Amino acid sequence: MRHICVVGLNWGDEGKGKIVDVLSSAVDVVVRYQGGANAGHTVYIGEDKKVLHHLPMGILHEGVAAVLGNGMVIEPRGLLEEVATVPASAVERLHLSDRAHVVLPHHTALDRAREATSDGDRKIGTTLRGIGPAYQEKSARRGVRLGDLVRPGFVEERLAEHIRAGAEGLELEEGAIEDSITLCREVRDRLGSRVQDTQSFLARLHAEGSRFLFEGAQGCLLDLDFGTYPYVTSSSPSFLGVGPGSGFSPRKIDHVVGVTKVYCTRVGEGPFPSEIDGAEAEALRAAGNEYGATTGRPRRVGWLDIPALRHAILLNDLDSFALTKADVLDGRATIPVTVAYRLGGEVFETFPTHAEDLSRVEPITEEWPGWGTISETTVRPFAERLEAATGIPVSILSTGKRRDQTVLLEPFESYVGAVR
Ligand code: IMP
Repeated sequence: MRHICVVGLNWGDEGKGKIVDVLSSAVDVVVRYQGGANAGHTVYIGEDKKVLHHLPMGILHEGVAAVLGNGMVIEPRGLLEEVATVPASAVERLHLSDRAHVVLPHHTALDRAREATSDGDRKIGTTLRGIGPAYQEKSARRGVRLGDLVRPGFVEERLAEHIRAGAEGLELEEGAIEDSITLCREVRDRLGSRVQDTQSFLARLHAEGSRFLFEGAQGCLLDLDFGTYPYVTSSSPSFLGVGPGSGFSPRKIDHVVGVTKVYCTRVGEGPFPSEIDGAEAEALRAAGNEYGATTGRPRRVGWLDIPALRHAILLNDLDSFALTKADVLDGRATIPVTVAYRLGGEVFETFPTHAEDLSRVEPITEEWPGWGTISETTVRPFAERLEAATGIPVSILSTGKRRDQTVLLEPFESYVGAVR
């Protein structure tokens, strides 16, 4: 086993940051392939909390190269702020794709304007980071890429006009264009030497025998094509996004591990069949500290959803599960799990395509065995039920928020063990 991919199996916030962080010690390169500052990956090193938005978690490991792939959309201010929080030596390990797109003020303004004027069914509940509009401009073949910023004269001579044209009919904050130009100039001057053809870089390192970890942001139920459209993000957080988002052939990736909590959460609008409310939801939200790492919004909470997981398994050609936040449910005799849906008198175990159908299904829930205090042994009865329901084994168990509260099973015990 050489190259691996870590994806979120739900609607984001599954605890990928910590899993990527643990596995990063075993690889040479960590690659982000989609999304941007909408992501918020958290890791605890001792009691120190670190939240990264653009930078892959691997950047925190000495000697690990961090690639921001062409499939990403990069917010200059966010990137500069984050880079300032990591050691200077880490910046030398940063590789920014010259094909990654730049989030500009008119994207953020458009995201805000759309969300402010949408109501009812049309509101997405985005992170307001300009993600959708930036991808929209990319698809319209009018976007600005990091590679443009480093071309002589582009920032000074062409950027303002580009933003002005994109902002037509929108209200930009005062000074937004000037600010953006200053920030883009700073990205060019401070990080210009890190902007490169990352596809060729990965091809070269692959030929030299390096090990790669591809890090999906968000979760695959937010996938633009296969998620709960239109309540999705504008990229492909699933394994399917690796090829277009990095230029590296997914055929070379040996193992896809999907991260899921032992319950489910969602931020923003959209269907969530196993969602719970009232005091039960309050208690779960408090126990799991379920508030957004990027926006601080309280997350909606519910139970693990097997039909949704089956959809995610297919989408990611999944090899194994990483189970996270299991300690949050410590002490429960049993754990509710949604195993099927009922709609119009019919029972089914598949995940409907249409968000409207999904919002109308009634969850059918079973009680699965709980554990007293989470451990590799006590979680076994639950893990066996999960494996029987999905055909996918558990390979990683996270028993707490710290790096050292992680149980690696095969194949990761050997994968990480080989380099320790
Ligand atoms: P956008 O990506 O900001 O356009 O938001 C689209 C949807 O994806 C909204 O429901 C967001 O709450 C959700 N979303 C985006 N990024 C994340 C994330 O990193 N974690 C969880 N949800 C996210």
